[in-house]
Amino acid sequence: MTYNHIIVSKETESKIAVVQLNRPQVLNALNFELMDELLHALQTLERDEEALAIVLTGNEKAFTAGADIKEFAARNSAQMLAENPLEKWQRIEKFPKPLIAAVSGYALGGGCELILMCDIVIASETAKLGLPEVNIGVMPGAGGTQRLTHLIGKFKAMELILTGRTIDAQEAFALGLVSKVVPAAEYLEEAKRVAREIASKSPIAVRAAKEAVLAALSGLEQGLAFERKSFYLLFDTEDKKEGMQAFLEKRKPQWKGR
Ligand code: CAA
Repeated sequence: MTYNHIIVSKETESKIAVVQLNRPQVLNALNFELMDELLHALQTLERDEEALAIVLTGNEKAFTAGADIKEFAARNSAQMLAENPLEKWQRIEKFPKPLIAAVSGYALGGGCELILMCDIVIASETAKLGLPEVNIGVMPGAGGTQRLTHLIGKFKAMELILTGRTIDAQEAFALGLVSKVVPAAEYLEEAKRVAREIASKSPIAVRAAKEAVLAALSGLEQGLAFERKSFYLLFDTEDKKEGMQAFLEKRKPQWKGR
């Protein structure tokens, strides 16, 4: 299958694959088509014996700036509840092979939530992470309220989610939100190096170990479903319409609180 918004490449000798998000004109915003392509690519790589560890990356300017606000701006609650577009994102966390995020530039909203579903995160010193959804009248909807809280604790998660503040790579590292920070020129190569190292181990042992670590984080299902529903319900508020419209018109939103 050929993809429009991602690029998949393989290093057959070292048995790793690289999936690159590729919508540079909109900072790799995750539209529905890109997410379908990403899920399709992962499903294919799951069966590929020549790919034992996968690097997920964007470009230097952006890993991804999150869900595509243009697509979301046009939708209401009933549509979101009926389509439930974010539920299938969870398949990424259940992907059985190691998924290593190589992050440079923006990883915001759904982009940060994508990182939270990866297994190892190698960040460039230029990385900027955050859950800025409250700036556009909504909230995280792809696991951010659950996984971030689990990962860094209630008070730090609340501060980041309720202010929508963006943090740099060093702060993300101090919070435990990334595995390692490296110079800008090295983030992708370092992620590939880690992938190659993992791919050189026993695939069955690696798979079992990943599953066991994830078992330590299990039990989020109810919270994730609650978060998604709350996210979708916000789509009928005036603040969601105003917040997303203001972003697209490059102006400050005027909140109504309804
Ligand atoms: N969706 C759609 N388009 C986006 C986008 C997004 N998430 N992020 C950036 N773009 C587009 C911009 O509209 C702009 O397009 P035009 O050139 O056609 O105007 C282009 O990408 C470049 O962006 P900016 O001009 O805004 O670049 P900047 O350097 O001035 O700012 C930024 C960069 C701070 C990341 C800013 O783009 C930004 O705030 N983006 C939105 C981040 C965000 O709110 N993400 C959360 C989305 S909602 C979500 O993800 C929900 C969920 O939980 C799943």
